[in-house]
Amino acid sequence: MNMNQKQAKIDIKKPQGKLAVLTPGMGAVATTFFAGVEAVKRGLAQPIGSYTQMGQVRLGKRDENRSKKVMDLVPLASLDQLVFGGWDLFPENAYESAKHAKVLEKDLLEALKEPLSQIKPMPAVFDRDFVKRLDGPNVKHGKNKYDLAQQLRADIRNFMKDNGCDRAVMVWCASTEVYTPPTEVHASIRSFEQGMKDNDPNISPSQIYAYAALMERVPYANGSPNISVEMPCMQELALEMGTPICGSDFKTGQTLIKTVLAPGLRNRLLGVSGWYSTNILGNRDGEVLDDPGSFKSKEVSKTGVLTDIFSAEKYPELYNDISHVVRINYYPPRGDNKEGWDNIDIFGWLGYPMQIKVNFLCRDSILAAPIVLDLALFMDLASRANMRGIQEWLSFYFKAPIVKEGLSPEHDLSVQLLKLENTLRFFTQEELINHLGLTYYGVNEGQSS
Ligand SMILES: NC(=O)c1ccc[n+]([C@@H]2O[C@H](COP(=O)([O-])OP(=O)(O)OC[C@H]3O[C@@H](n4cnc5c(N)ncnc54)[C@H](O)[C@@H]3O)[C@@H](O)[C@H]2O)c1
Repeated sequence: MNMNQKQAKIDIKKPQGKLAVLTPGMGAVATTFFAGVEAVKRGLAQPIGSYTQMGQVRLGKRDENRSKKVMDLVPLASLDQLVFGGWDLFPENAYESAKHAKVLEKDLLEALKEPLSQIKPMPAVFDRDFVKRLDGPNVKHGKNKYDLAQQLRADIRNFMKDNGCDRAVMVWCASTEVYTPPTEVHASIRSFEQGMKDNDPNISPSQIYAYAALMERVPYANGSPNISVEMPCMQELALEMGTPICGSDFKTGQTLIKTVLAPGLRNRLLGVSGWYSTNILGNRDGEVLDDPGSFKSKEVSKTGVLTDIFSAEKYPELYNDISHVVRINYYPPRGDNKEGWDNIDIFGWLGYPMQIKVNFLCRDSILAAPIVLDLALFMDLASRANMRGIQEWLSFYFKAPIVKEGLSPEHDLSVQLLKLENTLRFFTQEELINHLGLTYYGVNEGQSS
């Protein structure tokens, strides 16, 4: 489309009624998200880090001085319309699970005990072959994996009916599974369905959840590096069912900083010979990632970022042989408070070496919770705007953004934000902004910049 033309009107249905936000996994991230929304609703805290709640979008030319809050620009569900549900292999309700996670202070949790205690996990589809460090009693049993998928579909329908919900979205907040690349059973949806009936060992629980969500036309966002909606067969199913999908792996701590720093170095044409990243983490996620199979999934999503940003094929003199190492060490005393260290060996003019050190003392779930909220609201918006399949404009939130086969993902956080903002302008027929800026200096470029 010519950017100068007025865009076609996108019909976005109004966010009427209640929206079910369903999370496979009710651990640290999910309960910090539930509790956070309940706290904001009660005026106990601010939704810091949430673009849907605090973000502003500039509209029109710079000298118009026009901007709108995201929530005033596009029709998003309000926090009061959200109803939370989820699945977990541990039977604790969200209040008990949040207490166990030790992310939030006791006083805040006590103030939220009533709403959080009402969120009780439905029995999970769980398989120890995919998460070796966990075992729990609240699990489904069935004839085969297909039967388990049907049980999940029934859970979604029943939850919506029991809670009077009009729509639902699913955001994967459960553990990282063992790294399992797609096999023949994942070649098509038909072979996947047959594989579930045959109990194919290559079909993971997260794939069964994703399948169930899509069959119920529930948008699915993947917060972990698991391979579920990343597979072509699930992408086909999403298109067939007219349902949005996005992923993978919430971009929170170290990778967030990496995707701010690395494009800066590349933009200045500074070379990089090595990037060593290590973390200590003591929560249940850290325990699960202590298993080499689950860590492999994380390693793949974390290391791909630099390969894509530095594009060594374009700049062999600068980025050909980067030694990129990523470590996560399980260290219980720190709980959810992760500490990450990055050592970056760079070189400049005439090849002279320099170093950058980053020491990020972050709170994992505090960084992830607003992402879950934004994804739930934006995926619901996408669904009401009749968007289907991969939602690349939500790359902003992910370490390993899913894109159509043949495209390279965009990792640069500021470019991801431009993409997100322009999509919101596009939804609302506002002019897209290209930041050219010549219009202010007498050049007729005919559009906003
Ligand atoms: N916190 C962050 O900054 C961050 C960033 C990126 C990705 N993630 C990912 O988000 C996910 C959640 O992280 P967390 O810190 O809440 O972990 P957590 O261990 O506290 O919670 C995960 C929960 O999922 C449950 N679970 C595991 N398999 C399940 C299944 N098949 N069905 C239902 N429940 C299941 C576990 O019992 C646990 O309660 C992890 O995959 C993590 O890697 C987190």
